[in-house]
Amino acid sequence: MNTILIGAQWGDEGKGKIIDLLSRQSDYIVRYQGGANAGHTVKFGAKEYILHLIPSGILHRGKRCVIGNGVVIDPEALFKEIDTLKQSGVEVKGRLFISEQAHLIMPYHQLMDRLQEAGQNGKIGTTKRGIGPCYADKMARLGIRVSDLMDPVLFHDRLSYILEEKNKVLTKIYGHEGLSFKAIHETYSGYAVRLRPFVANTMELLNEAVHRKKRILFEGAQGTLLDVDHGTYPYVTSSNATAGGALTGTGVAPTHIGEVMGVVKAYTTRVGEGPFPTEFEPPLMEKIRNKGEEFGATTGRPRRCGWFDAVVVRHSVLVNGLDTMAVMKLDVLDDLPAIKIATAYKCDGKIYKTFPSNIRVLEHCKPVYEEHPGWQTDLSRVRRYGDLPVNAKKYLARLSQLLKTSISIVSVGSQRNQTIFVK
Ligand code: IMP
Repeated sequence: MNTILIGAQWGDEGKGKIIDLLSRQSDYIVRYQGGANAGHTVKFGAKEYILHLIPSGILHRGKRCVIGNGVVIDPEALFKEIDTLKQSGVEVKGRLFISEQAHLIMPYHQLMDRLQEAGQNGKIGTTKRGIGPCYADKMARLGIRVSDLMDPVLFHDRLSYILEEKNKVLTKIYGHEGLSFKAIHETYSGYAVRLRPFVANTMELLNEAVHRKKRILFEGAQGTLLDVDHGTYPYVTSSNATAGGALTGTGVAPTHIGEVMGVVKAYTTRVGEGPFPTEFEPPLMEKIRNKGEEFGATTGRPRRCGWFDAVVVRHSVLVNGLDTMAVMKLDVLDDLPAIKIATAYKCDGKIYKTFPSNIRVLEHCKPVYEEHPGWQTDLSRVRRYGDLPVNAKKYLARLSQLLKTSISIVSVGSQRNQTIFVK
């Protein structure tokens, strides 16, 4: 069965750990959107791996990993990751396949991202990895794809024409120096040599795998509320982080998908700017941030933390068609005497039970909470659902009821074995 795994909140739900677990039973693990803005953390024993571009399945010997056409690739970040993996004894050669249709992050994308974020208006709080400008160029048909880079004549032509356009914007609008064609051409021609052995027609490769009844795991990055269509626009990333992105981002048809699994945290976090109705006030914010180690895996920024928001996750259940969920970091709530869940929002006297698209409503609404007693017990050693304290079971049951979705995995720590599989 082929599975799409997505983040059902604002990213950082703990997808890395679940992808790592599900990778064991998969043949192919595939990234389909985003780029090196993602940071998937996998821990086993004292070892910690943070993967930004390469699917986390690479840590499992013999698994084939694919970077699909929907991903935007920063070659420098990719090679750095390949080298770091090699130093840890993980060889990617023969196991990593990169779509020839994927778009490349160019130096002007990163520069534009930084310049736009430095402006006074409309700060998004991006990771400054050039993601937004690269996807904007893709849509504007000004992008450079892996296949363009593989063809020296085509690359030369496209870069000279596109860079001319970019330098006009850099110099005339931002008052910045233009970038040198020679320097970019030289650097990227070097990247081309290193990239070539990994380049493939990944659409054909994956459809061939489907035909041979191989199991594919589609590894979502970021989260539903950061999706450019279904998230808290404009405070979103620039790709489709929802289940639909797995189809357009790989060329595998919806008829080949068996299951969609959502990953949620037992509370909520977000990084960067944008509305966050259930955000904690300072004392609780620090407590949960420290206990949950809520600092960005890519940028190190402290994450904003808040109560579980059922309005947000109900929206994710619908948009992604979730079949089941993994609830992460339940142990982070261990000490709390009472735990809240937002079930609706209130704004200007109106109650919202479904997720409002209007960003002004989201910014001004007050959550309607229900309160549950905490369990005040250490969960980190619990391995069976039956051994969870009654109040923890009640909390999970209430989440499942509010979201009308079953919970199949509960995580009580970052280690692989700190996982409860719910029968
Ligand atoms: P960008 O993807 O760098 O353009 O950033 C846009 C927004 O998405 C910002 O709020 C980022 O903090 C957020 N974002 C991007 N990638 C991630 C991620 O992997 N986890 C959480 N937030 C992310």
